[in-house]
Amino acid sequence: MEFDFDTPVERRGSWSARWERYPAGVIPLWVADTDFRAPPPVLEAMQRRIAHGILGYNVPPAALRDAVIERMQRLYGWRVEPDWVVFVSGIVPGLHLAARHLTRADQHALVPTPVYHHLKRSLVLAGREHTDVPLVLAKGRWVWDEDFLAAAVKPNSRLLFLCNPQNPGGTIFTRDELARLAAFAQMHDLVICSDEIHADILLDEGKPHVPVASVSREASRRSVTLISPNKAFGFPGAGCAFAIIEDAELRRAFSADHHATVHDPSVFGYEASLAAYRECGDWLEAQLAYLRANRDLVEQEVAAMPGLRMAHVEATYLAWIDASGLGVSDPYQHFLEHGVALSPGAQFGDAQFVRLNFGTQRSLLEQALKRISCASRPNPTG
Ligand SMILES: Cc1ncc(COP(=O)(O)O)c(C=O)c1O
Repeated sequence: MEFDFDTPVERRGSWSARWERYPAGVIPLWVADTDFRAPPPVLEAMQRRIAHGILGYNVPPAALRDAVIERMQRLYGWRVEPDWVVFVSGIVPGLHLAARHLTRADQHALVPTPVYHHLKRSLVLAGREHTDVPLVLAKGRWVWDEDFLAAAVKPNSRLLFLCNPQNPGGTIFTRDELARLAAFAQMHDLVICSDEIHADILLDEGKPHVPVASVSREASRRSVTLISPNKAFGFPGAGCAFAIIEDAELRRAFSADHHATVHDPSVFGYEASLAAYRECGDWLEAQLAYLRANRDLVEQEVAAMPGLRMAHVEATYLAWIDASGLGVSDPYQHFLEHGVALSPGAQFGDAQFVRLNFGTQRSLLEQALKRISCASRPNPTG
């Protein structure tokens, strides 16, 4: 079946976070959602629910729990038991639950930097002491600085945050890299909270996603794995995520706010997730092919721009661009003045970077890259 990712869909006026923030004329390539319609089976499932007409309270569907378990087994050979799956309305609430309930007030956490801001923010808001562990470029990939990590761990360290695949930076961590992190966690008795929302957005063929919990029984016992189909299948506004937690004590602690400050997913999140996992494999493949070509275009264009550099993006639809060579104090502001709204790198830990979302129509991406190229000339004229 053919899917159309090329025809633009008007998003201004639809309450889109990405499209409402900046004036018309600015190309918004910041927050991480795509400009593609969700897959037809996802939309049909939601429409069936609307046709039913009753939108009351719900229990998590057993069929969705089964679909999660089946997927973990089929894709990763990871055997998950039904009661390990905890439904949450999004990954972000899951990160904040982890920070608050998997550590005590006197315990310390380790968090990579740069990283999707809610990993660190959850620790800041929970008032937990933490250390930012830098990712470094090794053979063109953003990877953990393992020496720094070893030096940063403390006797009261309890939690290790991981973003796998990495946002920003686009790394698909290898089984060996994850096994080393898991061994480190075991040595220091750390819980691993792994945000794996980008697990289905794999752009490099032959590089599989490996859930950190799947590397060993011991890793599974000390992990909280946060997954969601909402990013890869285009329905983050409908919200639905799962925490997979083997250890009963960790599960109980993580679930402390359930049905109180943290609500269940909406019925639309459940419907969308079930349809995505059951019926949208071909759509996902088509979207990945489109995103791969967008990624190649971004990499090729950025390589030709003086002052900009980026590592190869293995996964995600987000390019992490080093603009330090431009010599401007605020690259985000600089590109905005040239008509492209990117995410400021400061949000993730480095103000000399910007993050570009290439989950959009190719024609719009080409336009944005032209503007970025103008802004990157030695004397940009606009
Ligand atoms: C790494 C990562 N985690 C979590 C989220 C947001 O998750 P949710 O919308 O399910 O709360 C994002 C969104 O960009 C993300 O990139």
